[in-house]
Amino acid sequence: MKKLAKLFKNNLQWAEKIKREDPSFFKNLSQQQAPEYLWIGCSDSRVPANQIVNLAPGEVFVHRNIANVVVHTDLNCLSVIQFAVDILKVKHIIVCGHYGCGGIHAAMEKTKYGHKTKKVCLIDNWLGHIEDVARFHKQELKGLSKKQHHKRLCELNVIEQVKNVCNTSVVNKAWNEGADLTIHGWIYDINNGILKDLKTGHDRSTKRKN
Ligand code: CO
Repeated sequence: MKKLAKLFKNNLQWAEKIKREDPSFFKNLSQQQAPEYLWIGCSDSRVPANQIVNLAPGEVFVHRNIANVVVHTDLNCLSVIQFAVDILKVKHIIVCGHYGCGGIHAAMEKTKYGHKTKKVCLIDNWLGHIEDVARFHKQELKGLSKKQHHKRLCELNVIEQVKNVCNTSVVNKAWNEGADLTIHGWIYDINNGILKDLKTGHDRSTKRKN
């Protein structure tokens, strides 16, 4: 059985480096976590939440799945949102998509060309949520080049998932109780490492039912 020794070596070096800079870092962090942010992002290995925004362990609570989708009945995602909002009292929920997203690309290909093989994949069901987004915005996407279509669908997916977060019972309850909670929609460019705010966010004063 392979042991992945390199990763354990990396881990020791990382822990030592942090302890050199702040000897009580892990001791303090082990007492409690009090992150201000919940990050909902893509599982893509090129989009690591903490590193992109340069935040240390303990500063961001993270949920990732393929194509950063917030499904109304996904107990995993909903439980993360509930824990973050009700227990951790995060002030911000960030839905972050990224250009070059393989999930978005796969959904586009599937919609356009149908199944390339006769194999039916489990992930096709998940990508159905992206196909829904494309259908909601059919008019806007019509006529765009393939590249522009992909980029815009990445953005529209974030915009729709922000709406889904805003419509969860957890966020609605928090807002009704006066919580200082803002939902943000961002997109990350894997070509230059830069984040962009899609300005599609909401807080208690702008909350809407979509
Ligand atoms: Co992705």
